[in-house]
Amino acid sequence: MKLIPPALAILAIVSASAAAFATDDRGRSPGQVLSDNNCTWCHGPSLQGYTTAPRLAGQRAEYVVNQILNFKAHSRDNPLSKQVMWGAANTVTPEAAHEISDYFSGLHAEPANDGNRSTVETGAALYREGSAGSNIPSCAICHGPDGQGVGAIPRLGGLSYRYLKRKLEQWNEGYHAAALAPMPAVSSSLSATEIDAISSYLSFVH
Ligand code: HEC
Ligand code: HEC
Repeated sequence: MKLIPPALAILAIVSASAAAFATDDRGRSPGQVLSDNNCTWCHGPSLQGYTTAPRLAGQRAEYVVNQILNFKAHSRDNPLSKQVMWGAANTVTPEAAHEISDYFSGLHAEPANDGNRSTVETGAALYREGSAGSNIPSCAICHGPDGQGVGAIPRLGGLSYRYLKRKLEQWNEGYHAAALAPMPAVSSSLSATEIDAISSYLSFVH
């Protein structure tokens, strides 16, 4: 009788479970399985988002990880965050946060196109150049010429007008104070009309 040396037998078991962990029987990564089971019913079947639950497809992985950690730490704290995302993020371990964020960042992002077209030109100029007189920096310097984001700085292009507008207003209402600089301060330089114009413009960017 031929016996398998114990070390080799263990190695065989470990590599079999590692392979099973990489994808499930439908070829889905662990991040996709987690998302399909827990996130798509609010963020949409292909993660393109709705007006309140934002698009996650194509979002920067580092940014998404930070937001999940902020929800878990309760420092992202508007009423909707409290109501739904504190619970949804609670079960996501730091390791799973990376897996799910990598999955989101690889998905194609569709523009929401839900802004007001008449203010797009004003919004585009403000986005690109800012306004020295009103102490508004160029958003493009950090968020990129097409709002694509970089590193932990999020992609803004094509996010829903309503989501963007509410987020910029919420910083001025005192929510999400723990966000990475310079955002709460940048929002405080924007008037209601400017918030409206920039959010409209961005909703059409793809
Ligand atoms: C019951 C609905 C619901 C479920 C389920 C849900 N979300 Fe959310 N999610 C929301 C809402 C609403 C917001 C907007 C919160 C806010 O305005 O601060 C949000 C915001 C987010 C954001 C912030 C995006 C940004 O651009 O800043 C991330 C990241 C996120 N959700 C990830 C997830 C993940 C990951 C899951 C699954 C584990 C999930 N969500 C499940 C409703 C939901
Ligand atoms: C110096 C770099 C910098 C500049 C300039 C800047 N941002 Fe940001 N922005 C950031 C960072 C970093 C974050 C992530 C904040 C966090 O931790 O939540 C962010 C987040 C955001 C978000 C949240 C996106 C989401 O999915 O919830 C919006 C909206 C936003 N910025 C709009 C703007 C606008 C509009 C301008 C120009 C008026 C601007 N930003 C200028 C760095 C910058």
